[in-house]
Parts: sequence; C-alpha cells; structure tokens
Amino acid sequence: MWKKRLAAVAVVAGAGLAVSIPAFSTAAKGKPAATVKDDGREVCYGCHDEIKAMKEGSKHAKLACGVCHDKLKEHLASYENKPVTTIDAALCGSCHKDEFESFFTVNYDSQPRKEKGVPTGRSPMMDKLLAPYGFTFEHNEPRGHAFMVTDQFVVDRFAGGRFQYKKRWFGVDSVGKTWDILEDKGPDFKMAESAKAGNPTCIQCKTSDHILKWKFMGDKDPRAKWDRTSDIIAVAKDTQNVVGCIHCHDPHGTQPRVVRDALIQAIDEKGAKMFAGKDGTTDLKVISFRDGFRKIGVMKKSDSRMMCAQCHVNYNCGTGYEFDTGKKVGYEDQRTNHIPLAGPKDLLEHSKKQNFYELRHAVTGARLVKPRHPEAETYFGSVHDKAGVTCADCHMPIMKNKQGKSFKSHMVIKPKDHVKEACLRCHPKYTAEQKLYQIQGIQNYIRGKMRKSEYWLGQLIDTYATAKRWGVDEETLAKAREKHEEAHVLWEWWTAENSDGFHNPDLARDTLTASIAKSKEAVALLNKAIEAKSGGARGAEPKKQ
Ligand code: HEC
Ligand code: HEC
Ligand code: HEC
Ligand code: HEC
Ligand code: HEC
Ligand code: HEC
Ligand code: HEC
Repeated sequence: MWKKRLAAVAVVAGAGLAVSIPAFSTAAKGKPAATVKDDGREVCYGCHDEIKAMKEGSKHAKLACGVCHDKLKEHLASYENKPVTTIDAALCGSCHKDEFESFFTVNYDSQPRKEKGVPTGRSPMMDKLLAPYGFTFEHNEPRGHAFMVTDQFVVDRFAGGRFQYKKRWFGVDSVGKTWDILEDKGPDFKMAESAKAGNPTCIQCKTSDHILKWKFMGDKDPRAKWDRTSDIIAVAKDTQNVVGCIHCHDPHGTQPRVVRDALIQAIDEKGAKMFAGKDGTTDLKVISFRDGFRKIGVMKKSDSRMMCAQCHVNYNCGTGYEFDTGKKVGYEDQRTNHIPLAGPKDLLEHSKKQNFYELRHAVTGARLVKPRHPEAETYFGSVHDKAGVTCADCHMPIMKNKQGKSFKSHMVIKPKDHVKEACLRCHPKYTAEQKLYQIQGIQNYIRGKMRKSEYWLGQLIDTYATAKRWGVDEETLAKAREKHEEAHVLWEWWTAENSDGFHNPDLARDTLTASIAKSKEAVALLNKAIEAKSGGARGAEPKKQ
C-alpha cells in the first residue's frame, strides 16, 4: 500500500513544495484567525489520504499542519525521518482556553489517596476478600483527571514506592508534567508493604502520549516503541502528560472520537449493544492508519458514554491464568488487553469463555476475576441511560466564562458537590437540597447492601477454612469454591465501580443480593459437611487422622 502511494508522491515532494510552519506562539494568541490554507498539505495528502478525509471541510480545516507537527521538511526529504507531533493539551489550550483551564482545575472537594479498604471506605473488608492481590496494598477512590498519571505512579501497588513526589507531601496537588512532579528513587528502592503491579496497558488509559508509539492492541511491532510486554518503568519514564484532548476529539477534524484500542475492538466485534441507538447500531466508524497499525473510532454524533468508556470500563490489563489448564497467561497474550463490555451478571461467564482469570483467593483458592472501574457497564440500562442522558450531562456541566460564553466544564465534577449544575437543568422542579438527598438515599441504601455482601463473603471464607481443618471432602470444597467465584464478582463489581450505586441502583441491588444468596448457599453447604465431620463439636480441634 505504502509503496504505491510513495512512488506517486515522491515526484511532487521532490518539486520542493514549501510547507509552512507557523510558530507555536502565533497560534497561541487568543482566538485563532485560523491561518494558512496553502500550507503544502496536498503533498502530505498524497501519502496520508485518511487525514484529508478527516480534515478538509471540518472546523479545523484551516489549521496548518505545522501548528501541531514540526520537522516536516526533514520528513518530506525522507519519510523515515519522523516529524515531531505535539500531543500536549496545552497546544489545544492555546486556542481553547476555557476547556483547557477547566480541565486542569483542581477540585479540592475530591480528596487524594482516599483508600477504599478501610472502615470508612467503600470496601472495608477488601484486604481479606481480595487477598493476596496487589490492590490490597493501596486502592483509592478516584480524584480529578489532572492527577491520573501521578496518582497511578505513586500508588503503593505500582512500583514498590520507587516514584515519589519531589516536594514530598507539598506535591500532593501538583498538576503538570509527570517528571516535574515526581522523582525516581531508583531500582533498588522498595517500600515496606508495597507491590510492583504496573503494566504498559494500564498506562494507555492514563495518557495519550503513546498514541503514535503503540500498535493497535499493544502488539509487538518494529514500528512500535512500546507494547504490552515492554518494561513498565521505561514506559512510565516516557509518560509526561495525563489524558490529552485527543482521546475524545480528533485533532485533524475535531470529530468526537475514541482511541482506546480494546474498546474499539470490543465495539467492532460485538456491535456494542451498550452504546447503540434506537436502531440497534452505533455510528462509530473505525479508521485505520498504516494498514491497521493504529485505529481510531469516529462518531457522527458526540456520545460521551463511549468517550468515557475508554477508561471508565472494566478491562483486563494484568496477567492471569486459564480456567481450564491453570496455565499462566502473560503479557504476550492479547487477553491481557481486553474490554469485556459485560455487566456484573455476565462477567464470570464471559471470563470463562475467554478462559482468563486474574487470581486465586488466598484461603479458598477460588479463581477470581477482577472487575475494574466499570462505570460504563453499570450505567448501561439505567433509568437515566434509557432516557438518553449521557455521562457528560452530569459530569461536564455547562459553565460560563468571564465574557459570558458557555462551554462544557472539562473538570469532570463529582455531581454530589455540584448538584445545581449537574441535576437541576433537567430536574427544575426540585431544589439542590432535594437532589442531594436523593443521591444520599441511593448511596446509603446500596452501601448497606455492599456491607452485607462483604459480611457473607467473609463468612464463606472463614467457614471454608474451618471445613478444611475438619477434612471436609474435596467435592464439597470444590462446590463451595465455585459459589465463591460467583459471589465474589457480584460483590467486587461494586467496590470497583465508583458511584456507590447511583449510576444504576436497580442493578446494584439485584447483584449484591444475588452475591449474598450465593455466599449463604456456600456457607450452608460447608456447615452441613462440618457438622457431619465434627458431630456438632465444631469448636473443638479435629482429631488427627
Ligand atoms: C512520500 C510519502 C509521504 C509524504 C509526502 C508525507 N508523509 Fe508523513 N509519513 C509517511 C510514512 C510512510 C509514514 C510512516 C512512517 C513509519 O511508520 O515509520 C509517515 C508518518 C507520518 C507521521 C507519523 C509519525 C510518527 O510519529 O509515527 C506524521 C505525523 C506525518 N507522517 C505527517 C506528515 C505531514 C504533515 C506531511 C506533509 C508535510 C507528510 N507526513 C508527508 C509518508 C509520507
Ligand atoms: C491540531 C493539531 C494537528 C494539526 C493541525 C495536524 N495534526 Fe496531524 N496529528 C496530530 C496529532 C495529535 C496526531 C497523533 C495521532 C492522532 O491523534 O490521531 C497526528 C497524527 C498525524 C499523522 C499520523 C497518522 C498515522 O499514520 O498514524 C499524520 C500523517 C498527520 N497527523 C498528518 C497531518 C497533516 C497532513 C496535517 C495538515 C493537513 C496535520 N496532520 C495537521 C495533530 C495535528
Ligand atoms: C490555532 C488554534 C487552534 C488550535 C491549536 C486547536 N484548535 Fe480546535 N478549533 C479552532 C478553531 C478556530 C475552531 C472552530 C471554532 C468554531 O467553529 O467555533 C476549533 C474547533 C474545535 C472543536 C469543535 C468545537 C465545536 O464547537 O464543535 C474541537 C472539539 C476542537 N477544536 C478541539 C481541539 C483539539 C483537541 C485541539 C488540540 C489537538 C485543538 N482543537 C487545537 C482552533 C484551534
Ligand atoms: C484516559 C482515561 C479516562 C477517560 C477517557 C475518562 N476518565 Fe475519568 N478518570 C480517569 C481516571 C484514571 C480517574 C482517576 C484519577 C485519579 O484518581 O488520579 C478518573 C476520575 C474521574 C472522576 C472523579 C473526579 C473527582 O474529582 O473525584 C470522574 C467524575 C470522571 N473521571 C468522569 C469521567 C467522565 C464523565 C468521562 C467522559 C467524559 C471520563 N471521566 C473520561 C480516567 C479517564
Ligand atoms: C474524556 C473526553 C474528553 C476529553 C479528554 C476532552 N474533551 Fe472536550 N469535550 C468532551 C465532550 C463530551 C464535549 C461535549 C460534547 C461535544 O461537543 O462533543 C466536549 C466539548 C468540547 C469543545 C466544544 C465546546 C464546548 O466546550 O462545549 C471543545 C472546544 C473541547 N471539548 C475542547 C477540548 C480540549 C481543548 C480538551 C483538552 C484540554 C478536551 N476538550 C478534552 C469530551 C472531552
Ligand atoms: C444522572 C447523572 C449521572 C450520569 C448520567 C452519570 N453519572 Fe457518574 N456519578 C453521578 C453521581 C451522582 C455520582 C456519585 C456521587 C458523586 O461522587 O458525586 C457519580 C459518580 C461517578 C464517578 C465517581 C466519582 C468520584 O469522585 O468518586 C465516576 C468516575 C463517574 N460517576 C463516571 C461516570 C461515567 C463514566 C458515566 C457514563 C457512563 C456517568 N458517570 C454517568 C451522576 C451521574
Ligand atoms: C440531561 C438530563 C438529566 C440530568 C442532567 C439528570 N437527570 Fe435525573 N432524570 C432525567 C430523566 C429524563 C429521568 C427519567 C424520567 C423521570 O423520571 O423524570 C430522570 C430520573 C431521575 C431519578 C429517578 C430514577 C429512579 O430510578 O427512580 C432520579 C432520582 C434522578 N433522576 C436524579 C438525578 C440527579 C441526582 C441528578 C444529578 C446528579 C440528575 N438526575 C441529573 C434527566 C436528567
């Protein structure tokens, strides 16, 4: 493909068409008088027709290639000299000030390092129920987008504590370039009670920096600097920015888009019922660059459910094991970069079909799948979703700047702290106080169900240990483990999800009560077997057999 086009274009390039490269600072002067039309782009289009299709006729049509790309003369001399591409959101921000500034505004209502596995947290019994997984070392509630890379790197489960704030605790609200904020304590540094559980795939959901350096799905390729198996520390060192504007907006044509590979793959394969309109389809069009090296998904109509689902979705990114053989599944296997798009009731079945689970429970040995932040799947089918409300309606409310111009706040808000902006536009009959009260009602109720399902999982684990001590037969233990596997995912979904039930209270109630029922069945089964072995004296020490 390339060869053919290259031959045709080499002649034109050779003719020495100048490519205008307006200085960054020209572009940065307030509202752009969207510049240069004749920037020599026709030469580029000779080899890059996908860009032409996106750009010409779009709202960015007038922006010269040189606004975002540099060293183009060298590239034209030989395409092997890669041009420089500016991915930094600050460039977009030079013309889109409101969106940029709101994006990097720190929301001080959202606390840093708010551990989930503590008595006041979302899952007080996490350490027991998730043992021995890395998440037990530190697992926090989310805060604003401007922190997503540094929070990932400093968390105790990521790199053994090797990355820390340069300014110690003064650094906790610093935003900007990663390596201005953090320092590396070196390869030999390891903090007590920490883990080294990072991987290159999970970073693709925190930054846009690797968009040109990562092949679709993270497969190995000579053209890709990084892949799923790359050294995580090296990838981290090459990560300077949090998610860029380009995760959701195409830089060439401003079309709403998604770039996360596993999501594009999942939507392509399954037709994505989850994001479909009334006609049962999505309007997501997949565009491929360099014969499939890279893909993006462009939508006609902006749908923030898909944009947010690039990251607020359950995905596999770590290693695991096969259900049937027990064999280890390493990063070379594409199953370690996978978005199931399955709900809490279907996830276990999906994982069994995929033949992939993440860990064995420390006490029961049950094979556990690990849901991660499944906000999109949880939201799917909720009352709001059915009514056509999307994530941005509540989390990116319309604000006005000093000149009175409206824009979408790009500081994703916690609606609880901004009820007026988040809810009253659609619910004008209620006061902010009433809407907050509704949120609290739902969250209190669902947290209650979470506590109960944790309690019963805890009972299951303890009873299992007792049963083992009494020498209960393997067949019974196996049945109990299977129930543990089912009960676990129905519970853990809600500790990984971050709305405490608000996104879909009906689904939360259904699944958490189903988890309780499964745990109780296992406890009953084990108790019966223990009774049979101990003759009612279960508190006693079992006789040595
Ligand atoms: C003669 C054909 C040809 C022309 C003309 C051409 N390119 Fe390229 N360009 C390529 C090829 C081939 C690649 C892929 C290189 C690779 O994968 O190593 C590429 C890659 C790129 C990349 C991605 C680099 C990266 O980091 O992976 C950008 C950006 C780019 N070109 C911009 C331009 C612009 C802007 C122009 C016009 C000024 C232009 N190209 C003109 C052939 C061309
Ligand atoms: C507003 C910034 C901006 C402008 C203007 C811009 N680009 Fe890009 N370009 C990017 C970014 C960012 C990427 C990284 C890939 C992506 O985001 O899809 C990119 C990637 C590319 C690629 C790589 C595609 C591949 O094969 O992976 C090519 C080619 C390219 N641009 C060509 C052009 C040409 C030609 C023009 C002018 C007609 C242009 N760009 C104008 C920001 C821009
Ligand atoms: C040199 C100035 C400039 C830069 C840099 C720039 N844009 Fe734009 N952008 C514009 C102009 C001008 C428009 C058209 C505004 C209009 O039609 O109201 C626009 C429109 C848009 C729109 C559509 C807005 C709407 O109301 O539909 C989006 C989205 C957008 N840009 C995103 C980006 C992103 C993302 C980047 C960085 C990759 C970027 N822009 C970089 C000037 C710029
Ligand atoms: C590139 C991945 C990515 C995308 C895309 C993304 N998020 Fe996030 N989001 C995150 C991460 C990671 C965090 C947690 C950051 C932290 O704690 O440092 C987060 C945090 C949040 C928070 C918590 C904010 C707070 O102050 O507590 C909200 C709300 C949120 N995102 C909503 C959204 C919405 C709505 C969208 C779509 C418009 C979206 N996100 C798109 C990765 C993403
Ligand atoms: C997680 C997805 C996401 C990211 C990242 C993101 N945006 Fe947006 N942006 C949206 C959504 C959703 C809208 C509203 C619907 C639409 O216009 O597509 C929007 C709207 C816009 C608009 C239209 C005007 C407005 O405010 O309504 C502009 C311009 C824009 N964004 C620029 C940016 C810039 C600049 C950045 C980076 C600093 C950025 N966006 C990052 C999702 C995102
Ligand atoms: C009808 C309004 C509404 C919609 C639509 C909505 N959310 Fe939420 N979201 C909330 C509320 C309310 C909370 C929980 C309370 C809070 O933190 O304000 C929440 C919490 C969150 C959180 C955790 C925030 C934190 O700081 O802990 C994330 C992340 C999130 N939502 C993402 C999404 C995504 C992604 C979508 C779309 C798939 C979405 N939300 C759709 C209202 C909404
Ligand atoms: C874009 C519009 C929109 C926004 C924003 C919105 N809602 Fe709604 N909400 C609706 C619609 C439409 C319905 C369903 C019809 C109805 O019952 O009014 C609904 C239903 C509800 C319900 C009843 C759900 C049930 O299961 O019984 C509650 C409670 C609610 N909204 C609370 C909120 C809160 C709290 C917020 C802010 C965090 C919010 N809504 C933001 C449009 C919206």
